[in-house]
Amino acid sequence: MNRVSADGVIDVAAERRRTLGAALSHHFNSAGAALPSSDVLAAVVDHLRLEELLGGYEAAALVKDATEAAYSACAALVGAQPEEIALFDSASTALRVLLDAVRPAPGTRLVAARSTYVSHALHLMTLVRERGSELVVVPTDDARRVDLGALTDVLADGRPSIVTVAHVPTSSGLDEPVADIGRIARAAGATYLLDATQTVGHLRVDVDEIGCDALVTTGRKFLRGPRGTAFAYIRRSFAERLLPTAPDVRGSRWSSGDDWEVLPGARRFETWEASVAARLGLGRAVTEVLERGIDATAAFLCGLAGTVRARLAEVPGIVPADPADARSGIVTFTVDGVPAADVVRRLAERNVRVVAVPAAHGQWDLGDRGIASVVRASVHVYNDHGDVDALVRAVAEVAKEGVR
Ligand SMILES: Cc1ncc(COP(=O)(O)O)c(C=O)c1O
Repeated sequence: MNRVSADGVIDVAAERRRTLGAALSHHFNSAGAALPSSDVLAAVVDHLRLEELLGGYEAAALVKDATEAAYSACAALVGAQPEEIALFDSASTALRVLLDAVRPAPGTRLVAARSTYVSHALHLMTLVRERGSELVVVPTDDARRVDLGALTDVLADGRPSIVTVAHVPTSSGLDEPVADIGRIARAAGATYLLDATQTVGHLRVDVDEIGCDALVTTGRKFLRGPRGTAFAYIRRSFAERLLPTAPDVRGSRWSSGDDWEVLPGARRFETWEASVAARLGLGRAVTEVLERGIDATAAFLCGLAGTVRARLAEVPGIVPADPADARSGIVTFTVDGVPAADVVRRLAERNVRVVAVPAAHGQWDLGDRGIASVVRASVHVYNDHGDVDALVRAVAEVAKEGVR
């Protein structure tokens, strides 16, 4: 099915027709959990029906090819090989498993961007408290992106370091210079873990251009997959150097009373138990991105978010919270005098769906900027100009009413 018209422009009307939820609310929460397409839902439900009739193991055997195709689709989307892909239940699980597998020795330097997501930041701080790692949060430049000069300086002594960055954070429309960071990390011999949870399916992500050792992303956000799905890219040479800290029957073979062998490739980090239905849904969702085209998707999302940003900036009482040159489908702002959670509730009363992101989800970003919470509106290919009008109108009404 061709989802891209001849000039590469997204066919929003067609996307809305295959997205039942698009007609039910003005949904601006793809950075939380996007609306899935009807085909994604069908892939999940059809498999659950098969499990009902055959049993879980028998049903899984029947769809083995489709499950393998999901790995290939994930690999194609990020420029990797299928054996470099591992499936997980969340991006946080994937990051935790990988960071643990690196087994940072005492004194290892963890070099984190200010854009780091809460769960990963807490893991890093736990390593500092319990295993004697050192944590450096890299300073930012004027646009609040990683300061590349500062990063180079931090890594200059060549000490064992793990660089970790969120491509686009949960807390703003900022995008990090991930390929520049990759060049600097490689030159310094540092391990580079990329959290691309907010960007796969949203912006072009090519692991070779970026030069990361591993990348994680989740299914339910810009990929529009089912909840409880995620995947990681683990560079072949990197995977082969790492062993899971808790080998599972899926990724290892218990070969004798006191020994086991670990599978080659990324799947050594997987667990046996998983929702096959959800994985098939993820495979369908990733295939839809490939069919639609990531460049057309990225251009549409960044363009529409740019429109939202520009229109909101003209509303009295709105304070934009993104970098001035933001290039993503995520828009953040605050409303003078009205807490973000109240704004979200009052927009929901008007059938406009956004979320509040509190500083507790990004202390090194929002906390550092002294912002208690932002309102986040994130677009997808099913958002049309009627949605944007409804969002801007509702925000203007709430700003005008002020505190209730
Ligand atoms: C930048 C970023 N990284 C990681 C995560 C965590 O993803 P998951 O909930 O799949 O673990 C999120 C979730 O919002 C995120 O925004």
